[in-house]
Amino acid sequence: MNKSFEILCKTLEDTRNFAINFAKLVEDEGCFVCLYGDIGAGKTAFVRYVAQALGVSEKVTSPSFVILNEYYTSKLPIYHFDLYRLENEGVKTILDELSQYSEGKQITFVEWAQFSQNQIPFDYLEIDVTYDDNDFRKYSLKSYGEKSAKIVEGLKK
Ligand SMILES: Nc1ncnc2c1ncn2[C@@H]1O[C@H](COP(=O)(O)OP(=O)(O)OP(=O)(O)O)[C@@H](O)[C@H]1O
Ligand SMILES: [Mg+2]
Repeated sequence: MNKSFEILCKTLEDTRNFAINFAKLVEDEGCFVCLYGDIGAGKTAFVRYVAQALGVSEKVTSPSFVILNEYYTSKLPIYHFDLYRLENEGVKTILDELSQYSEGKQITFVEWAQFSQNQIPFDYLEIDVTYDDNDFRKYSLKSYGEKSAKIVEGLKK
């Protein structure tokens, strides 16, 4: 069963607080997160705050040119992919590699994971970020698998 959760973050500070809560829920077991939303929606902002909450002091930016950035925390590594620059076909070719980042304990974020429905064969969390012309951002989460369902349930408490 897919579980879902939605949160409206009216300010950057709200997004930060949401990311801090999220970090607490994933810091032990990790998770695989696909982030969707327009340019400037707030995907990287969320990743940055999660990383900061877990003690990453390096600057967290969109890895648009290198595809992958890696950060290390005392508990587990954070992998941050940005597939924006890959053509649609290219996105498919990276799926095998991404699968390797779905097992074990790490937090993997993927921006612009434009796979078609049912193409992702492992447990993951989808986060859609939508926004208007102000600072309001809506983060909509949906779980695909048991591990991600637990995280969503945790956020509801
Ligand atoms: N409530 C909010 N939550 C998140 N970001 C916000 C909020 N209000 C304003 N912002 C601003 O919106 C911008 C979000 O940019 P960000 O780089 O996170 O977008 P992105 O979704 O990763 O875009 P891209 O697809 O280009 O990588 C930042 O400049 C951030 O400061
Ligand atoms: Mg980004």
